[in-house]
Amino acid sequence: MLDEIVAAVRNCRTCAVLTGAGISAESGVPTFRGDEGLWKKFRAEELATMSAFISNPEIVWEWYNWRRQIISEVKPNPGHYALCDLEKRFESFSLITQNIDGLHQAAGSEDVIELHGNIYRNKCVDCDRQCDTETEIDPDNIPSCSECGGGIRPDVVWFGEMLDGRIISRAFEEANRAQLFFSIGTSAVVHPAASLPIAAKQSGATLFEINPEATPLTEIADHYVAARSGEFLPQLVARLNEVASPD
Ligand code: OAD
Repeated sequence: MLDEIVAAVRNCRTCAVLTGAGISAESGVPTFRGDEGLWKKFRAEELATMSAFISNPEIVWEWYNWRRQIISEVKPNPGHYALCDLEKRFESFSLITQNIDGLHQAAGSEDVIELHGNIYRNKCVDCDRQCDTETEIDPDNIPSCSECGGGIRPDVVWFGEMLDGRIISRAFEEANRAQLFFSIGTSAVVHPAASLPIAAKQSGATLFEINPEATPLTEIADHYVAARSGEFLPQLVARLNEVASPD
């Protein structure tokens, strides 16, 4: 399997990658689903929805402050760094993530397409203006937007909300022109993100999936690697380096 991926990387010029919570799992960020997943412990509709924010903004901010705290204490893992290395091997490389943790950027990836926002940013609940100066939010004293007076919320996509049209369009453009597509560490059940690998494959890409557990995508993937990304991706990079310099 490793050699098939190595050959594909060496033969392709364009590559797109979709990552999910699994790529950050080895950094210590909880995933959403599975036995230890966040949605087992917390009800999504009580925390990550507009109606939750309207009825109980304090609880919502307490939850996001807790997640910010966890994320601020973790570091990128070898999987994140391996993707920075992989990027250099293609004429065109797109990194699309569902994660809001900023760990790809912390590893050195510069142009990350963030489908679901970023937990460190804030915006106004009414006018959508980004309000990044207010980084520390006191749940008992939530600041208001200086333009319109609306409450400040995290700049992440909640359940029932549309993704930013320009961002998702760009992600589909990149998926459609990729010769190689990697789906890494995502349960591939949340759309439209989960449609990206399918679109890539329909446009002719070879589809690789890296995930210790099978997903709805596994059946249509050309190659499925049942492994942790933080272990497999560095092995891939090491093998690519060996092949590039056989001595
Ligand atoms: P999930 O929690 O649904 O899935 C995480 C996936 O990572 C699972 O399929 C695991 O098997 C896999 N996994 C766990 N450890 C791994 C490792 N070390 N290496 C590789 N894979 C590993 O997370 P997402 O698919 O990212 O949306 O969830 C998608 C969206 O659902 C999230 O972005 C979030 C949530 O609702 C919003 O908040 C809008």
